Amino acid sequence: DGLNIRAKAAGKLYFGSATDNGELNDVPYTKTLSNTSDFGQITPGNSMKWDATEKSRNVFSYANGDSIVSLAAGNGQLLRCHTLVWHSQLPSWISSGDFDNATLVSIMRNHVTNLVTHWKGKCYAWDVVNEALNEDGTYRTSVFYNTIGPAFIPIAFAAAAAADPSAKLYYNDYNLESAGAKSKAAANIVKQVQSYGAKIDGVGAQAHLIVGSVGSASSLQSNIQSFTSLGVEFAYTELDIRSTTPMSDSTKAQQASDYAAVTTACKNVAKCVGITIWDYTDKYSWIPSVFAGQGEALPWDLNFVKKAAYTAILNAW
Ligand code: XIL
Repeated sequence: DGLNIRAKAAGKLYFGSATDNGELNDVPYTKTLSNTSDFGQITPGNSMKWDATEKSRNVFSYANGDSIVSLAAGNGQLLRCHTLVWHSQLPSWISSGDFDNATLVSIMRNHVTNLVTHWKGKCYAWDVVNEALNEDGTYRTSVFYNTIGPAFIPIAFAAAAAADPSAKLYYNDYNLESAGAKSKAAANIVKQVQSYGAKIDGVGAQAHLIVGSVGSASSLQSNIQSFTSLGVEFAYTELDIRSTTPMSDSTKAQQASDYAAVTTACKNVAKCVGITIWDYTDKYSWIPSVFAGQGEALPWDLNFVKKAAYTAILNAW
């Protein structure tokens, strides 16, 4: 029994985890990650990003991404490939480059085409565009938006579809877990890409959530349906639920019920295809380094002991 077994029994494609290259030398860590009872899918946390794959213009490095691709293949796990076009973790030749519209379009198409072609047939899904929106639903300022305008999004999707027609192409962002201006704008991105004549298959809600602010399963569920009603699938792509540390017993109990609410919401919508947690153990969570004083966000503690959150997810499927 395990999280992935239960997810599949509920009709989902997978329950999965992010991982990163450095962590794979940790033998007990990799052993649990490779156990398909719990994990039927993995996402490389960093090694497919622009700064990792195209550090200098048109010079591509695939070795770290390839290691995670082979790990997944060896374990029989699906792969979510992450991410092609994002304002963050860009090499300086692009973030501080001064390109005109046509040049940046060709740089972006070249990046997308090279990565998607290199991993063609290996990626169940690609996060094609990541975090293009502000909280109020306007487009975020980025080198891509500033130079190309909103068309950078459909152009990226069209290039990805041409390079691997069978990969599921996603728009991925945070704060898309509940209704509001940002979720509405993400739905508009889906419609824009469709009206441009390009393929978009899914919306990914990162779901970097806070204990006690997750909301009910039914509100999460109706928000998922606001995306799936557009004809696309949905996934929780980077789930973690953080709090100030150390967590009290009541905070731990709240965290478990928050994990259960997210799981129930996905379970209840046929086109929610799966849930990925953003690594599985607090030992390798990104939270403490970015949100000072917060953490304990994952279902396994830093000694690989399963928490109440684990059992809550298991039972919610
Ligand atoms: C994070 C990684 O986990 C960290 O190791 C890295 O230092 C920064 O990026 N949204 C995303 C992910 O789409 O790519 C981010 O991953 C977390 C937020």
